[in-house]
Amino acid sequence: MGAYWIEGGVPLRGELAIHGAKNSVLPILAATILTGGCCVLHNCPRISDVETALQILEYLGCKTKREGSTLCIDTYEAVPRPIPVSMTGRMRAAILFMGSLLARFGQAYLAYPGGCALGERPVDLHLLGLRHMGAHCDCTEDCLCCKSSCLEGGTIALPFPSVGATENLLLAATACKGDTVLCNCACEPEIGDLVDFLRCCGAQICGKGSVLQIRGGCSLHGGEFSIMPDRMEAASYLAAGAATKGELTLTHVCPHHLEAVTAVLRKGGCELREGKDYISLRCEQLRAVSPIRTAPYNGFPTDAQAPIMAALASAKGISVIEERIFSNRFLHVPALRKMGARIRASRHYAIIDGVSRLCGAEVEATDLRGGAALVIAALSAQGRSRIGTTEHMERGYEDFAPNLMGLGAKLRME
Ligand code: UD1
Repeated sequence: MGAYWIEGGVPLRGELAIHGAKNSVLPILAATILTGGCCVLHNCPRISDVETALQILEYLGCKTKREGSTLCIDTYEAVPRPIPVSMTGRMRAAILFMGSLLARFGQAYLAYPGGCALGERPVDLHLLGLRHMGAHCDCTEDCLCCKSSCLEGGTIALPFPSVGATENLLLAATACKGDTVLCNCACEPEIGDLVDFLRCCGAQICGKGSVLQIRGGCSLHGGEFSIMPDRMEAASYLAAGAATKGELTLTHVCPHHLEAVTAVLRKGGCELREGKDYISLRCEQLRAVSPIRTAPYNGFPTDAQAPIMAALASAKGISVIEERIFSNRFLHVPALRKMGARIRASRHYAIIDGVSRLCGAEVEATDLRGGAALVIAALSAQGRSRIGTTEHMERGYEDFAPNLMGLGAKLRME
């Protein structure tokens, strides 16, 4: 188990290039199965979730190769082997192999996916859509099994715009007989990236936004594609800059994807400048922002909730956050309290009464974004902190500690 020792109170300063998006590369890696060919993916982050996806691809018989941030995946020899829990249990996005295996082979078997424990994370919407396409889905205690000799298109309206369900159904729809119209889709930019990747591999998909129309039965081929920038990585560094009263420039970002986050930071008194692919932030003293409500895109992203809360913990005034996507996403609150934060949290609401300074403490990361929040809090705190279980952060942040050190953080990896 890794840990970071952080001596807080140093404003972060400097420039940082943001990596490719975790939540885009994972569905696209699953989608390579559909092509039966060679795919070249640029700008892939070096994070452990990507390593897990590559292990799954290799387990399924694909060949994978990395050169820098470029991944070459050859899925020609893939076979639909049951994917064990030792692989699926490490990340939620493993569920996306269901849609791609079903589409290519007419069958998919996998153990239940893991990922951050953010409350209940059922897969009913994925199954609802796949059943609508004619797949027979069985859920035993430890395995999800889906089969179909012929998937059928049609119109499917998702009761909630689930990111993962939209992606799984998009993948499966490429193999349907006839067209599929997906309504009430999630509109996260990472879904746009998946659509663009599928199009570059020969898929015919119309629409961008909450309604997507997918032409079934187009034969797909390999393709070359560059992964979009990670808006959650960028949001976390912006929160760290605000929390430490720093001055940062993030490059290789898409500012438009971060509007809900930058709006909150502006309200909190940060000075922000944006260009086509960069954002600069300067913060003297963060002020409370209220209310912040997490919502599907283009609302405030649930993945930025914990990092922003860490920054607001030492803002002037009282902030209120309503978490509306997940039922248990305040796991980081007890550790923030241990660092002196005044936060009251119920299931969906957190009231943050900013203190003048957090203090260093020894705490454990409980999940990916919650762990990043503790690092942000430690960077702004007075004194020394130890953040344990940094494996959580390695799932989603490439070179998190070295990047922070490059921005001036006094940080040591254990
Ligand atoms: C994706 C992101 C994750 C982000 C989340 C919400 C990836 C790899 N992960 O996760 O970082 O926090 O979107 O933006 O892209 N739900 C159901 N039934 C289902 C599916 C979802 O009830 O079948 C519920 C979930 O329990 C949750 C909500 O819908 O409360 C949102 O989940 P969803 O949009 O599916 O998120 P993920 O795809 O798991």
